[in-house]
Amino acid sequence: QYPADVRIVEVGPRDGLQNEKALVATADKIALVDRLSDTGLRTVEATSFVSPKWVPQLADAAEVYSGIARRPGVAYPVLVPNEQGYARARAVGVEEIAVFTAASEAFNRRNVNASIDESLQRFAPVLERAAGDGVRVRGYVSTVLGCPYQGEVAVADVVRVARRLHAMGCYEVSLGDTIGVGTPARARTMLRAVAGEVPMSALAVHFHDTYGQALANVLACLEEGVAVVDAAVAGTGGCPYARGASGNVATEDLVYMLHGMGVGTGVDLAALAAAGRWLASLLGRETGSRVGRATAAA
Ligand code: HMG
Ligand code: MG
Repeated sequence: QYPADVRIVEVGPRDGLQNEKALVATADKIALVDRLSDTGLRTVEATSFVSPKWVPQLADAAEVYSGIARRPGVAYPVLVPNEQGYARARAVGVEEIAVFTAASEAFNRRNVNASIDESLQRFAPVLERAAGDGVRVRGYVSTVLGCPYQGEVAVADVVRVARRLHAMGCYEVSLGDTIGVGTPARARTMLRAVAGEVPMSALAVHFHDTYGQALANVLACLEEGVAVVDAAVAGTGGCPYARGASGNVATEDLVYMLHGMGVGTGVDLAALAAAGRWLASLLGRETGSRVGRATAAA
């Protein structure tokens, strides 16, 4: 019933840090990516080449990407909002990018100062250049289960945007519950509808845990057949332009659940939990991962 193996897309260094007010040192960001890629994770989203005026925390994206030890077999996608971001990313040798838009007009306007259509038009030349350069492109759809500004989001809008990203050449489309308001039955209905238009093998799910529903939502989606799940170490994360958003599902908690169900991830949970506690101490707070707390040395 469940996939034998799940690929986890670790988004802690990007989604996890982008909402942190206090600047994290570049060397610590590099150490975080390196520690995460030592745990067996196959995909670690390393940083974001968005406008530093919008997300000052990740202004050092080029330095971070240049500083990490790129392990063979690990993919290090980065967020790219436009051609300027693509050029910056390529200048330091990025081989995989992620573009992002939303199912809600109101949210997209606040997040990237553009309508959904405008943002897709912005991606067209990026995807064209990426195809020519042999760069893989992942796509994100935000606010798939609710929007902090418009409220309800129609499933049809999620389907339409996901289909377009896939048709434009995104090898995978990640469906994001940006503000963590979804519940399992709705998550399942949404995923099933999208999977009617985009192959399930090209879909991923991305749950924030604001209302404590993230793991339950992941489970419901695994039952639908999704086999790629985004998560952030120590339960970090949130979008600065999504009012009320909080952390992603904690990677440690996700790995614990999957291994407990006999689903493989390739991840060393003890090493991951240690990395999460290290990050939390760096950020000056307790880890947001329940597994991280439960397995902390007394
Ligand atoms: P804008 O202000 O409309 O665009 O921003 P602009 O083209 O007028 O640019 C403004 C300034 O930024 C200019 O500088 C540009 O050069 C510069 P100035 O002329 O004023 O000196 N600029 C850049 N600099 C470096 N790299 C770039 C870049 N682009 C422009 N790439 C823009 C439009 C899209 C750039 C802006 O709105 C932006 O960067 N937004 C990003 C917001 C963001 O990062 N949000 C979080 C990520 S999405 C997320 O978290 C959701 C997700 O996790 C899934 C989920 O949970 O649902 C993925
Ligand atoms: Mg997110």
